[in-house]
Amino acid sequence: MAAGRPVVLGAGSLAALDRWLTTEARGAQRVVVGDENTLRHGLPELLALVPGLREAPSIAVPPGEGSKGIGTCHALWSHLAGLGVERGAVLVALGGGVVTDLAGFVGATFKRGLRVVNVPTSLMGMVDAAIGGKTAIDLDGVKNLVGLVRQPEGVYVHPPFLRTLGKRELLNGVAEMLKHGLVADADHWHAVVAAPWHDLQALAPLVERSAALKCAVVSTDPEEHGPRRLLNFGHTIGHAVEAFSGEGPQRGLLHGEAVVVGMVCAAWLSWRLDLLDRTSCDAITAVLLERYRTFSLNVTDHHRILELMAHDKKNRGGGFRFTLLEAIGRGRVDVPVDAAMVADALDHYRLLVHDADPHRRSA
Ligand SMILES: NC(=O)c1ccc[n+]([C@@H]2O[C@H](COP(=O)([O-])OP(=O)(O)OC[C@H]3O[C@@H](n4cnc5c(N)ncnc54)[C@H](O)[C@@H]3O)[C@@H](O)[C@H]2O)c1
Repeated sequence: MAAGRPVVLGAGSLAALDRWLTTEARGAQRVVVGDENTLRHGLPELLALVPGLREAPSIAVPPGEGSKGIGTCHALWSHLAGLGVERGAVLVALGGGVVTDLAGFVGATFKRGLRVVNVPTSLMGMVDAAIGGKTAIDLDGVKNLVGLVRQPEGVYVHPPFLRTLGKRELLNGVAEMLKHGLVADADHWHAVVAAPWHDLQALAPLVERSAALKCAVVSTDPEEHGPRRLLNFGHTIGHAVEAFSGEGPQRGLLHGEAVVVGMVCAAWLSWRLDLLDRTSCDAITAVLLERYRTFSLNVTDHHRILELMAHDKKNRGGGFRFTLLEAIGRGRVDVPVDAAMVADALDHYRLLVHDADPHRRSA
């Protein structure tokens, strides 16, 4: 990570946060921001293990992606102003990716920047969202359209928070762990595929490995000028599918579930463009479709998904830029892909799902 910004993993992480508060942030105002679930499940444990936060007021936002918008920002900015929060104060984001993306943005902009600390409580947060300094809110149905990159003062990963996380949310986070393996570490991919995902003890070392992989990639390129784009594997289509799934009658997809759709498409594109061998493409596809519920697409949906993809921040000169795979464990960034081929990839996914179960509109 960027110099001096620790990511502390595992046992003792919250004690490290307490030490930081009583040394580096001594005397600073402190405020905890979470959503209603993360405050209910996580705040008592946080306060028990971090005495330095016991006097801190806490602010709850409603759970869910709907909170990642300008309305919630306004409410939080007003609340912070009402509390008399000054520059130099510490804002502790206790929650999943929604809370850390939102609090990171609010903290970066309030009085031109508070000191933000991330304490992720979801698996998605621990292995991905809380690390790397990307903050964002959604606008007009487009994910992460407004935001900035600003490294938090620290990220403190305490895996026991996962005890209260729902099964679907857990799988949502595993999707990003699989992605880390696919783009950067074949052994990690195989280890995650083989692990019993609901056994938190078995998962814990893999959570730490994934978080470390994300840190390693981000530290080489914090502002995403090149290598950090590796982490966008599955996201170019995934973000658009995630937004699209919120528009229609099917159940809205979680971020990781949409990234799974994006990874199936991106693996196929990697094969189609002669970067990846067919056996690896098939192996990746089999794991993803076996472990995740599928999302039914119609041919008529492709146009809207392409429209949503037009907002992708990686696009250059009107064309799409994908992160694809050269092998399991080795990604390649900035591969130009045209709209017709994206439509073919979506069609490939549509047919795979249709062939697996023609009667199912499951998602
Ligand atoms: N900034 C980044 O680099 C980055 C990376 C990946 C994802 N994201 C963003 O993260 C968001 C998704 O994150 P998420 O999957 O954590 O969603 P989330 O924050 O909405 O959390 C999922 C649900 O789990 C609940 N929850 C969280 N921790 C819990 C716990 N310990 N016990 C019980 N319930 C708990 C939350 O209240 C919420 O209802 C998306 O907005 C996505 O765009 C950002």
